Amino acid sequence: MMDISVLGAGNVGLNLLRILKEKRDVFRSRYRVDINVVSVSDSRTTVFEPNGLDLGGEVIEAKASGNLSRAEAKTISFDEIFDIDNEVIVDLMPATQDGVRGGRDIYMKAFRKGRHVVTANKAPPLALHWAQIMEEAASRGGKMIRYEATVAGGVPLFSFRDYCITPSEVISFRGGIVSLTVNLVMRMMARGGTASRKL
Ligand SMILES: NC(=O)c1ccc[n+]([C@@H]2O[C@H](COP(=O)([O-])OP(=O)(O)OC[C@H]3O[C@@H](n4cnc5c(N)ncnc54)[C@H](OP(=O)(O)O)[C@@H]3O)[C@@H](O)[C@H]2O)c1
Repeated sequence: MMDISVLGAGNVGLNLLRILKEKRDVFRSRYRVDINVVSVSDSRTTVFEPNGLDLGGEVIEAKASGNLSRAEAKTISFDEIFDIDNEVIVDLMPATQDGVRGGRDIYMKAFRKGRHVVTANKAPPLALHWAQIMEEAASRGGKMIRYEATVAGGVPLFSFRDYCITPSEVISFRGGIVSLTVNLVMRMMARGGTASRKL
């Protein structure tokens, strides 16, 4: 059983919860892992159930209808997610611009408390505080941080570099667009739109 806490229940967070619910049997049979979501937070509420939240019946519908607190589950404060039983903290919130409060500080605290971290949080935390975050993770008994979703989640770029091509050496990269957002903007510009036009 892997108990996880999900921070953020927006586009990415809700879709992750849907996948975890729909593919539960696949994770079990193919990867021998039972992923149990013990808490979900949005900007106002954190719902918590130590034995695993009822994603389908409660959490997803409550949030999709606009109010996470409608889910029939206990509520706790955001800070308490570091004290409940979870192994992994999944950050799907927007970062603050400096990557500190929303981002770095959460990961540092998670490592100190013995948790692994998964983040979809783009540039600020990792680009600005990479060394500090990685050092803290390593110094806490080799806690892991996974960040594949930060760049082209559908293209396993970091896993490819970190695991698949070892021990080969990357000599260079040729140009390519790995961002769906950039692709969308360029496609619209090719059709005559301008960068300033509202998408
Ligand atoms: N969308 C994408 O395609 C994509 C792709 C890759 C990476 N990302 C990254 O993934 C993250 C989430 O993106 P998204 O599109 O899902 O964003 P989103 O739809 O705006 O959702 C953000 C979620 O975080 C919650 N939140 C905001 N501030 C919070 C706080 N202080 N404490 C607790 N929860 C808080 C929001 O709560 P409320 O619901 O109450 O507002 C919302 O549920 C971002 O870092 C983004 O850069 C997104």
